[in-house]
Amino acid sequence: MLDVIYKRRSIRKYQNKPVEKEKITEVLRCAMHAPSAMNKQPWEFVVCDKREVLDEIQKIHPYSQMLKTAPCCIVVAGNLITQYAEGSYIQDCAAAVENLLLGATSVGLGTCWLGIYPDKQRQEAFRELFNMPKDMMPFCAIAIGYPDEEKYSPDRFDSKKVHFNRW
Ligand SMILES: Cc1cc2nc3c(=O)[nH]c(=O)nc-3n(C[C@H](O)[C@H](O)[C@H](O)COP(=O)(O)O)c2cc1C
Repeated sequence: MLDVIYKRRSIRKYQNKPVEKEKITEVLRCAMHAPSAMNKQPWEFVVCDKREVLDEIQKIHPYSQMLKTAPCCIVVAGNLITQYAEGSYIQDCAAAVENLLLGATSVGLGTCWLGIYPDKQRQEAFRELFNMPKDMMPFCAIAIGYPDEEKYSPDRFDSKKVHFNRW
């Protein structure tokens, strides 16, 4: 488990190879295993593996160039009806996304988190592109596929950011 945490990096170059449906299901299972406020699980996922949709995303997201090579992208949205309290979908979806990234690393896939929240214009653009009902709030998108680059594992531990008992 620790290996997977330290191995995960943002991958922005992908092999020209589709991701097996079973692996997509497995990483979504990892996502949905995340903790959520009052166990409301207010997350929804749109799996996009059509080239034309991946190209459309690049028109509405300025930092999504890796989708030129990624064979798949998963859009994560928060459900405003089922979330526990106003805005709690954000923490719940973030927990689910990190689980998904780690699960993907574990099965040999690379990922890159593409921020949508808190940019309201971007949230609306994704909602429109994917025809989402108004109670679904796009949170982020995740490029996913077999990596075509290797990245080192930095040690980001910083003792100055750790405080004991009081600040
Ligand atoms: C909320 C959030 C939004 C991000 N948005 C983007 C993005 O739009 N495009 C991108 O290429 N990377 C994006 N990233 C990835 C970060 O750039 C990356 O995680 C960070 O540079 C650390 O590198 P690492 O993931 O390789 O450890 C995002 C990450 C987070 C957590």
